[in-house]
This record gives sequence, C-alpha cells and structure tokens, in this order.
Amino acid sequence: MSSRRVVAVTKDAEVQKLIRQTARELFVADDLNEALDIVETANPDLIILDHRFSPIHVRELLNTTDKNSMNVPVVVVGNDESDTDLSTEFIQMGAYDYLRGKKDYGRLEQIVSQIKNEANAATCERDTGNFFADDYAASACMVGRSKAILNTLKTIKLVAASRCNPILIVGETGTGKELAAKAIHTLRHPDERFVAVNCAALTANLLESELFGHVKGSFTGADREKTGLLELAGSGTLFLDEISEMPLDLQAKLLRVLQEKTFRKVGGIKDIACSTTIIASSNRNLSREVQANRFRRDIYYRLSTYPVTIAPLRAPERREDIQLLAKYFLKTSTISPEKVNKITSLTKLSIEALEKHDWPGNVRELRNVIDRAILLETTDKIGLSSIVIAPTGWGELSGNPGSGPIKDFSLAKAERELICRALQETDWQKTRAAGLLGISRATLYAKVEQYNIRKRSYDAKEVQNEDSSHALSQPVATP
Ligand SMILES: Nc1ncnc2c1ncn2[C@@H]1O[C@H](COP(=O)(O)OP(=O)(O)OP(=O)(O)O)[C@@H](O)[C@H]1O
Ligand SMILES: [Mg+2]
Repeated sequence: MSSRRVVAVTKDAEVQKLIRQTARELFVADDLNEALDIVETANPDLIILDHRFSPIHVRELLNTTDKNSMNVPVVVVGNDESDTDLSTEFIQMGAYDYLRGKKDYGRLEQIVSQIKNEANAATCERDTGNFFADDYAASACMVGRSKAILNTLKTIKLVAASRCNPILIVGETGTGKELAAKAIHTLRHPDERFVAVNCAALTANLLESELFGHVKGSFTGADREKTGLLELAGSGTLFLDEISEMPLDLQAKLLRVLQEKTFRKVGGIKDIACSTTIIASSNRNLSREVQANRFRRDIYYRLSTYPVTIAPLRAPERREDIQLLAKYFLKTSTISPEKVNKITSLTKLSIEALEKHDWPGNVRELRNVIDRAILLETTDKIGLSSIVIAPTGWGELSGNPGSGPIKDFSLAKAERELICRALQETDWQKTRAAGLLGISRATLYAKVEQYNIRKRSYDAKEVQNEDSSHALSQPVATP
C-alpha cells in the first residue's frame, strides 16, 4: 500500500498511537477547521475524529469536503464509555466506519486497507485502456481479453449473482485467485467487509481462534475476549486462502458453519449466527486431497458446486493475455515512478520472449519480470536485454538435499536443507512437514519464506510468494 496519509483530529495520545501503527504520514489537527486546511493541501486517504465529535460534526465536515470535491472518508474512534448505538448514527451521517473504543482498535488496519483498495479500484476504472474485457473487469482491475479469462469472468458473475455459498476458486499459484475473490465480493456486497486469512500461515490453534474468536480465559493467554474473523466479516466475505492446508479437526468445525450457519467462539457456549459468504481458494487438487484423506469429502462437495477456475498463463487459451498484462504492469508499476513515465512500450522482440516463456509463477511472476525490466531499462522502450526471466532452478529447491559431502557448515544452510527434505518427504504437506521437524506450521511457513524455498515442479503447489516484488533481493541472472 503506497501512501496512507491520515489526518487525525484528536488530542488523545492513545488514539494517536493507534493511528501511527497504520499511517505512513499522520497530520494532527486541533479542530475541524484546521483539519480542512490540512485536507486541502495534504490530499489524505482518511480523516479520523475522536469521541469528542458528534454525528452532526461528521455531516458538517463531509458537506464541506464534498462541496470542494475532496472525497475523503471519515472514521470515528469512540471511547469505551461511548454509547454503542452511536455507530448507526455516525454511519447514517456519512461516516465510513465507527470504532467503539479500544475493543475495536484492531479493526482500524482493516478499514484503512479497504479504503485504499476502493481508491485503487476507482483509479483503475478511470484508466481502462484496452486491458479489460468489460467495465466489470475494469472495476476489479482484472486484466485479460482471452477466451479463458472471459470464461472465468462469466463464472465469477454467475456465482456472485447467485446465493452460492461457499465458493471455491482454483488455479495455480499467482493466477489471480485473490483478485477473483475480491471481484466476487464486490459484485455481491460491495459495502460489506472483505476479510482474508491464509490457512497455511497459522498453527491449528491460532487459526481456530482467529476464525471463530475466543472467550476470555478459554486458554492460557486469552486474557480478553476476541472477535473472530467470521464475526468481523459479518454479512461480507471471509476469504480462506489455501484451504487445503486447514487441519482436519478445524475442517469439521468449518463444516458446522457451512451447514448450520452458526459457530461458537473457542471456549464459548453461545451459538453465533453467521451470514458470511465464504470463499476458499486452493492451488492443490482438492479431489486428490480427499482421496488421500487430507481433506474432508463433505466440505469438498459443498465447495465444488460451481468452482471458479483460472487458467495458467501458459495455457493456449490464455497466452494472448501475456502481452496485455505486460503492458498493463508497465503502465501501472510503482517500482520506479520516474522511470515508468519515461518508458512507454516494449519492443517486439521482448514481447515475443515473454510470450514464449511458460510462466510457472503465472501473473505474479510476469509482474515481477516487468518490474525488474523497468529498473534495468535505460531507453524509452523495454528491450530484450532488460527482460530477465528467472531460469529454472533459480531460488527453487535444488539438488538432492542431504546427500553428498558437506561443504558448508553454516547452521542456516543445514536448517534450510532439513526443511527442504521434510517438505519433499511429505509432498509439501506443511502440517506434516512441521510435525517431522518438530516446529509449528507458522514457524515452518516463516522459514520457507526466509530461505526462499520453492518447489521445483509447479504442477501441484507452490509456497506463496509475497505480492510485493522481492525478486530484486535475489541475484539477477544474465539473460
Ligand atoms: N488478471 C489480472 N490482471 C491484473 N493483475 C493480476 C491478474 N491476475 C493476477 N494479478 C496480479 O498478480 C498478483 C497475484 O495475484 P493473486 O494474489 O490474486 O494470485 P493467487 O492466485 O491468489 O496466488 P497464490 O496462489 O500465490 O496465492 C497480484 O498482484 C494480482 O493483482
Ligand atoms: Mg493468493
């Protein structure tokens, strides 16, 4: 996320501290007039008011900003003593959201992300070019005009308009599953929350309390009640990324949510009603996971009513999108703003090179290659010599770990090799690999990222790569 400028009208040190955790730049104003002056010059993403302000203040502030075409959302942070009903009044007066004091502080980060996403979508819409199949694809920033992407878009619209719940999105790594999930969400209930959780990134216990929340005292360390992501998503969307990694006992609890539309907090006895749309994604073949008894058949059947599938870039019916995507990333890259304006196109040869590659990391890999090319290019056109495609084996799990004489005695290297070995032995089942290594899944996941361990073949599953292109932290190969 790029800027995150926040104007805060508050003297409350706690609230300022909270905002500093999410804002890149914070401007503190003493009163609304000062805030308006700052808004005019600083072009912020968000205005935050504290509990001293009333719903009427919000309306007045928004009247003034609207009149001056300064479209800035306002969030109000109440204090613990505030009347909880104020929430509706503030929102009726146009506030973007209302935090009911400290218990709600955790939501600010999510609200800010949501605001930024909406702003990005709006910019994208203004600048459609020929990248998108239709207005809807443009508002979702989903580039592509190939037959394959048209089919995917058709399915997205179909499931979004239906009551299909849960929804499954399948596709190789980097094909745009999360983007598709957001697109479905925006079509179905644009004003609700989109909450994402990666099932592979947390230990079973953490994932459970993250999803369902917990009551105070339900386990050591649960010193206060926690609202789970399901509750947080409300009537919006919960995106369960990498669902195949969800432990079996938790899958049983998820099934209950899908069947009964209710859930309980960890340690709780009250059934909480749930109207959330659940979207799951997987880059593993789930039916094979069912056969191997690693994934519940009943959940699989529920998920596969009408799956949204996204074709890999190398598929013949998707290849034509490579050129479009490359041009789109060239136009929208944020890696070097000064250069992006100077570089206007790609040479014919470089486009041919891109079209020839198989893109095991799909759209994400292509975006990284374009970012790298922008940095390398010195003329106004991206030439072949700036297109550096990672050769196979680069950053992947290579060799036969654990065999041969030891040349390097560093602990880090030994640790990396052991992890590689455990992953190979378990066919990249992270829960089992973590078990073999005697570490938690969260630790394993962190180490896989730290050592940049990647699977050699991409036909099954690859460890997620962070979106922000960190390709440059790796050695740049000569083309
Ligand atoms: N059709 C598209 N148009 C524009 N950008 C895209 C498209 N598809 C994917 N991207 C971009 O590629 C990157 C990867 O997409 P995304 O995270 O949705 O993939 P994913 O399938 O969820 O990957 P993973 O399996 O690794 O989680 C993101 O930056 C996303 O914005
Ligand atoms: Mg993803």
